[in-house]
Amino acid sequence: MFEPPVTAPLRHMPYLGVKSMPMFPADTYRKRRERLAKQIGKGLILLTGNTDSPMNYKGNPYPFRQDSTFLYYAGIDQPGLVLTIDAATGESTLYGHEWTMEDIVWMGPQPSLHDLAGLAGIGRVEEPDKLHALSQQSLVHYLPPSRSENLLRLSGWLGRDTGQVREGVSESLIRAVVAQRAVKSEEEIHEMVRAVELTGRMHVAVMREAQEGLQESDLAGIVAGMCAAEEVLPAYGIILTTKGQVLHNHHHGHELLDGQLVLGDFGAESPMHYAGDITRTFPVSRYFTDQQKEIYEIVLDAQISAIQACHPGVKYRDVHLEASRIMANGLRSLGLMKGDPEEAVAAGAHALFFPHGLGHMIGLDVHDMEDLGEDHVGYAGEVTRSDQFGLAYLRMARTLQPGFVVTVEPGLYFIPELIDQWKAENRHADFIHYPALEKYRHFGGIRIEDNILISADGRVVLGEPIPKTVEEIEALRYQV
Ligand code: GLY
Ligand code: MN
Repeated sequence: MFEPPVTAPLRHMPYLGVKSMPMFPADTYRKRRERLAKQIGKGLILLTGNTDSPMNYKGNPYPFRQDSTFLYYAGIDQPGLVLTIDAATGESTLYGHEWTMEDIVWMGPQPSLHDLAGLAGIGRVEEPDKLHALSQQSLVHYLPPSRSENLLRLSGWLGRDTGQVREGVSESLIRAVVAQRAVKSEEEIHEMVRAVELTGRMHVAVMREAQEGLQESDLAGIVAGMCAAEEVLPAYGIILTTKGQVLHNHHHGHELLDGQLVLGDFGAESPMHYAGDITRTFPVSRYFTDQQKEIYEIVLDAQISAIQACHPGVKYRDVHLEASRIMANGLRSLGLMKGDPEEAVAAGAHALFFPHGLGHMIGLDVHDMEDLGEDHVGYAGEVTRSDQFGLAYLRMARTLQPGFVVTVEPGLYFIPELIDQWKAENRHADFIHYPALEKYRHFGGIRIEDNILISADGRVVLGEPIPKTVEEIEALRYQV
């Protein structure tokens, strides 16, 4: 029977200034590395941990976020480390500096690298200078660096210029890492549920506190504060806005006005850095207007039907298309679209209202492994990416497998600039009833998102339910 991950003993030791560092048992990391080594077979696998990144000068860094693949194979949440795995023998080495007395004077006593390596089941520790010997190695497998610091570090160790480093990334390593990280284990799911449950509490708190006259930033402050109180970071930039038609709107400068909708798309990381990514849309006032309710019900119908359609063996692209057809049909019933919904979706006309993909994989990254290449993660050579507006943004298209965790996040948006452009071009005029759109010009946007685990015979929505139906949201707002 699975037991929740134990916090590493470090957490219980009086290390002043060291933030808690929960890890899975050493065996988890050892087995992951063994499997990767076996898959790659020969050469040296090089996994670069992140360094601290200066906010304005070196001594004032951004909050540290470890590289997710490094976390997956080594678990150590500390800057400046590198892991190598000899693919032939499976032997792992951790590279990093031991703390100096000066570090201890400023930061308090620190765990030694040997202790940390032991917690991850890594047998050897070396000074980072030794990494320069990598330029002599005939075969080094490394991943595309997402941070420029790591690009430069790789360039130094490998003795190649940055262009050569970018060209030399290992496709076989990318594919092996994606295959392994895509299927979540029971202990990972436990962490993901923790992330989603904190995220759910944040959404409920925001829905309870929202009222006319507050600023969007007051609500964003609740989210940031609840993360800080749990010593975790938000999993991505907080979207909390009355202008929900702007898909990634990180501006929080508007006042909440009676009659508006608030779109909140935010999530917390778990203590071990797994992401939650939930969206809810609710009225500033206690009740949805009739117009808001009509659009909301269409999105909700699409979201619930899409969740039900998630099943091992089903292509996620087909789930996206089914959600699109449901929304096109709903918009037709309101007189905003016309013609056959199936034909409208095939032509891409619905993308005026739904210009993004239904969802993405989620795990240690909110868009899981996007640094390794969206097509590797979401298409895996199985499906060809469309270049049609809207469908082109679908991050996840491949066949669902047990252990995958995906988001399901349909939305409907009224983007005045896009409507004007399409109308001027008479684009998809067979499917879009432009005159009827006038009444929706300032509607904004609605998105509803949950995080879904694909199980052996279906799917599970992660976490405790978060108010989602019109009735549930209005009832919650009524308790204010
Ligand atoms: N939560 C933002 C996104 O999925 O892109
Ligand atoms: Mn998402």
